[in-house]
Amino acid sequence: MPPPRLPTLFLLFLTAAAQDSDPGPDCTGRWIHIRQLPPQFNLDLLSNCSEYPVSGDFCPFVANHGLGQKTHNSSRSWYRTDPLMLELIFHRRMLEYPCLTPDPSLAAAVYLPYYAGLDAVRYLYGPDQNSSFLHGLDLFRFLTRTDRPSIWNRRRGHDHFLVMARPAWDFSQPLSNDPPIFGTSFLELPEFFNITALTLESRAYPWQEQAIPYPTSFHPQNLGFLQSWIQRVRRTRRSSLMLFAGGGGISANPNIRRSIRLECDNVTALSTEGTGFEKFCDFVDCSSGICEHDPIRFMRPMLRASFCLQPPGDTPTRQSTFDAVVAGCIPVFFEEQSARRQYTWHMAEEEYGEWSVFIAKEEVVGKGLRIMDVLMGIPRAEVRRMRERVVGMIERVVYRKHGSSLGLRSKKDAFDIAVDRALQRINSRVHQILSHSLHSSFHSHM
Ligand SMILES: *[C@@H]1O[C@H](CO)[C@@H](O)[C@H](O)[C@H]1NC(C)=O
Ligand SMILES: *[C@@H]1O[C@H](CO)[C@@H](O)[C@H](O)[C@H]1NC(C)=O
Ligand SMILES: *[C@@H]1O[C@H](CO)[C@@H](O)[C@H](O)[C@H]1NC(C)=O
Ligand SMILES: *[C@@H]1O[C@H](CO)[C@@H](O)[C@H](O)[C@H]1NC(C)=O
Ligand SMILES: *[C@@H]1O[C@H](CO)[C@@H](O)[C@H](O)[C@H]1NC(C)=O
Repeated sequence: MPPPRLPTLFLLFLTAAAQDSDPGPDCTGRWIHIRQLPPQFNLDLLSNCSEYPVSGDFCPFVANHGLGQKTHNSSRSWYRTDPLMLELIFHRRMLEYPCLTPDPSLAAAVYLPYYAGLDAVRYLYGPDQNSSFLHGLDLFRFLTRTDRPSIWNRRRGHDHFLVMARPAWDFSQPLSNDPPIFGTSFLELPEFFNITALTLESRAYPWQEQAIPYPTSFHPQNLGFLQSWIQRVRRTRRSSLMLFAGGGGISANPNIRRSIRLECDNVTALSTEGTGFEKFCDFVDCSSGICEHDPIRFMRPMLRASFCLQPPGDTPTRQSTFDAVVAGCIPVFFEEQSARRQYTWHMAEEEYGEWSVFIAKEEVVGKGLRIMDVLMGIPRAEVRRMRERVVGMIERVVYRKHGSSLGLRSKKDAFDIAVDRALQRINSRVHQILSHSLHSSFHSHM
């Protein structure tokens, strides 16, 4: 077999390892083994990045280990990041995780560096649509037959985890759909019921998966860059009351995006005199995907807005929620599934009210509630407190750049929190299973 044509940047990828990890981190219960997979499960999926159906040429987004290219040459922390590249970003960060072990029998968890979302493209949009129930079976065969089955069998897969950088919905097609409608059946296969999958969005009743933040375009590599951004976020004057950056809502059917569009058009006519705002509503038109990979289009306006509207689109969650947090713009949600029921590891469910606003979409679409009236009704001191809470979350939702300074590594970012919580979840499951099997073997010996 000829060697795969790898983007040169990726030649470093395989050899990059923890160089100067923390001085003696406590690794008790935190050892992770990275399962070695054949390149067909990761690097080969990047080698023809220009030939994928629908997504077009994503080679530029593979640069910088999945962060994408810098937004401009002099930019220090801003990249044209595609959220689907989280599988690469996570893999690269895993390589510098301080508690790696080559011995799977010592590991609390086993990470699978499988680019599941990229591999899914051929089933989602490509020639393999009608065999979407096959997605994952070759991986399962590798894990349980080809390569040392003992690693899987030790915990029956309960200790394995991976990143699937798409909404879980894309991997949840019931096996009984014939012909398939949309999505692969990876998460529906009994073979994978025991694993932990980190997705960008979870189902309403998730079992295997947990949602983790979408990557934004901001990837600082030292504490100074993070702190100077946070200072800017704090200092910027919020001259618009609310902002919507997105597309949709142009059809005649009532829906929340349409209501937002209409309200936004309508309130621009109102006088802002005496309100402290220059605009009530700022609308950044992102139709046809023009804002993707172009953070400048929406980050500047978000910095100047007090509230950022996060209506559901094709699915309930949006990358924009995390862009808003990075800009210190208070998110306004219209569905519980948009964030509160999703990102429970990174933002505690009971604290949502302290840094975001919830307005049920039915109130707006069906009953004509004006979003602006709700937001204007929140006292200014309260708005300031909420914004301070949003600013305090920036470091938790950002994926810092690989190879960051030690100072920045002392803060937990989105990756660190995801790994901590995945370990907790796996430890408690494994503990349950072990005590259960001890219990039953105790009884069977009575
Ligand atoms: C990548 O290229 C190889 C060889 O040309 C081909 O077999 C494979 O199907 C391609 N994959 C995609 C996703 O285009
Ligand atoms: C940015 O850097 C690249 C490579 O160093 C160079 O080819 C390009 O001309 C630069 N672009 C600008 C606008 O300076
Ligand atoms: C999948 O199957 C349907 C119905 O059998 C068929 O119409 C369609 O062309 C097939 N799609 C592909 C990509 O083979
Ligand atoms: C999943 O875990 C259960 C209970 O531990 C076990 O019986 C089953 O065989 C496991 N599934 C796979 C595919 O390993
Ligand atoms: C705009 O506001 C006015 C006054 O509140 C109202 O009569 C009108 O129906 C609104 N138009 C739209 C499109 O919402």
